[in-house]
Amino acid sequence: MTNTDIEPEAVYNPSTAASLALYKSAHSASIKDISSYWSELAKSKLHWFAPFPTAVTGSFQEGSVSWFAGGKLNVCYNAVDRYCLPPFNRGNEVAIIWEGDEPDAIKRISYHELQLSVCRIANALKASGVQKGDVVTLYMPMVPELAMTMLACARIGAVHSVIFAGFSADAIADRIDDAKSKWVVTASVGSRGGRNLPLKTICDAAIKKERCVGVVQKVFVFDGNGPNGSEWDKEDIHVRFSDLVHAQWPVCSCEWMDAEDPLFILYTSGSTGRPKGLVHTSGGYSLYAMHTTANSFGLSQQTGPSSPNDPHKDVYACVADAGWITGHSYIVYGPLLNGISTFMFESTPMYPDHGRYWDMVQRHKITVFYTAPTAIRSLMRFGDDAPNKYDLSSLKVLGTVGEPINPAAWKWYFDVIGKGKCAVVDTYWQTETGGHVITNLPGVTPMKPGSCTLPCYGIEVVVLDPASGQEIDTTAAEGVLAIKQPWPGMARTCLGDHQRYLNVYMKPYPGYYFAGDGCRRDEDGFIWITGRVDDVLNVSGHRIGTAEVESALVAHPAVAQAAVVGIPHEIKGQGICCFTTLTEGVPESEDLIKELRNQVRTSIGPFATPDMIVLTAALPMTRSGKIMRRILRKVAAGELDTLGDTTTLSDPSVVDILISKVENLR
Ligand code: WTA
Repeated sequence: MTNTDIEPEAVYNPSTAASLALYKSAHSASIKDISSYWSELAKSKLHWFAPFPTAVTGSFQEGSVSWFAGGKLNVCYNAVDRYCLPPFNRGNEVAIIWEGDEPDAIKRISYHELQLSVCRIANALKASGVQKGDVVTLYMPMVPELAMTMLACARIGAVHSVIFAGFSADAIADRIDDAKSKWVVTASVGSRGGRNLPLKTICDAAIKKERCVGVVQKVFVFDGNGPNGSEWDKEDIHVRFSDLVHAQWPVCSCEWMDAEDPLFILYTSGSTGRPKGLVHTSGGYSLYAMHTTANSFGLSQQTGPSSPNDPHKDVYACVADAGWITGHSYIVYGPLLNGISTFMFESTPMYPDHGRYWDMVQRHKITVFYTAPTAIRSLMRFGDDAPNKYDLSSLKVLGTVGEPINPAAWKWYFDVIGKGKCAVVDTYWQTETGGHVITNLPGVTPMKPGSCTLPCYGIEVVVLDPASGQEIDTTAAEGVLAIKQPWPGMARTCLGDHQRYLNVYMKPYPGYYFAGDGCRRDEDGFIWITGRVDDVLNVSGHRIGTAEVESALVAHPAVAQAAVVGIPHEIKGQGICCFTTLTEGVPESEDLIKELRNQVRTSIGPFATPDMIVLTAALPMTRSGKIMRRILRKVAAGELDTLGDTTTLSDPSVVDILISKVENLR
């Protein structure tokens, strides 16, 4: 399907030639003078305790970019307090709609209530010794207390490091150790899909690992909705947090932060085994999250003082998990900084059945719905009956994020969910970019199914020739995606390893930010992401480094060598395929395969479970001893016609053995 198959007048607030021309001129103006563009926005959109003297300084090459340095603000004040005051006066309006694992578990929290809760948590953290600049690790279910604790950290100047609740004890321990985080916040038990998640027990296992002993001082445990699982207070480390919070004064002043002070760290996968802690700042990140939320979803009408019973009022729902960047920017910071209501969803799209999302749209009259292609594909499998049972007429904008969306899934989303009337925004971005960098804008720029379309305001996207590093200046181009000028939402460094930041993003193509993705730009200038060009997999929209999975495998005594590659997967986008050679004398067996699968689950988390494990006597190696991953990728995907030259291998017969092994496993 192409864009011309869509009846333009059927699309909610459709794009026109005039609106596209307006976008083009506004976009070129924004990148002509990034300093004035962002400085005007920062002044008008955020509340500053002290003004910033300059908008932007530094360069990509030196990794020294800073935005609004010297300006003082508090992100929590901007996201919560100011909306309780004139001129906004929105204290009684809903800030968070929470829907728990069971569809009837619903809470609506007003801005005023949010302010009181955040202040109590902030005071409880302060009373326990948490100070400005400390890293607080959060391992929490999708409950309002997660957003509240993130905001409480922002209020007192502590730096949060949220770990997705699907990560294992080992992965938590690595992150606590890397950030030397003295404080951990968790909940006794979370729930997902009718099952209890023993979060406290997993946290306890993490902090008992050698690398965390002596690092963690306190584990603050919110009451969850289940039995507490493991023992309490043995080493005086656990704090019954719900009780402590409840006893606090609901007033807490905001710490004045420099715009460049870190707001949070978020770990993400890269090409090495060790995840990197990307650092996002108070001023630049929050402006960027706020601005892109309003623009990409067409919410700008809500950023001024609200009028009662506004018929255009949006009910915005991003159903991601706050443990990933999408939740940070588009569940917590972006919506609340805009003063709108946000939605927190604890459950899964399949619970109690696969109509859950559409039931929520009907019950809450959701207008903007934001999810990932993998969820769309998995729901599409069940057909149209479930969505057709519900009234989806409130929807205006549908968003997708995390991986390229295949045109068939796009079309289903557009036709069956959006009834041909909603704009589908395909938002391309990364943990590193802080917010959307390429997306169509509802009512402004056109859609093309499968293309994330055009750069956001203030973002200068270029396509580089991967070999020469030169910009390709013809409109139609194929190469690697890069960004030419700084933007406020960019991560500033990798915690404790600035060299790694420089090596990964700034050195490959000097003068540009290198995103790690390949892309094609079509004759209309629209961008099509072709996928990662590094060793990072995208499994159900989760980034997983092949090296992370390999190091989990080689930690098993039976494994001598491991090479991990991605395989195409109908629902997940990419699946994980592991080729492993065994230690001398260890026999191949089904049980061992199970054990290795489990090894990856316990070392990273269930979402990284391998789809295929191939035990083999040898891997394809070059004569100089390098594993030929290109060949493994082709063998795993069954693309045998394009295997390429295998004669340079030290033992070409290995390939035939692998081909037959993979065939047997299919
Ligand atoms: C991929 C998620 C195509 C891309 C927000 C990127 C996408 C990586 C899209 C970042 C999209 C994200 N179309 N690919 N709309 N959005 N990606 O850090 O490969 O978890 O580099 O951030 O996801 O993943 P991350």
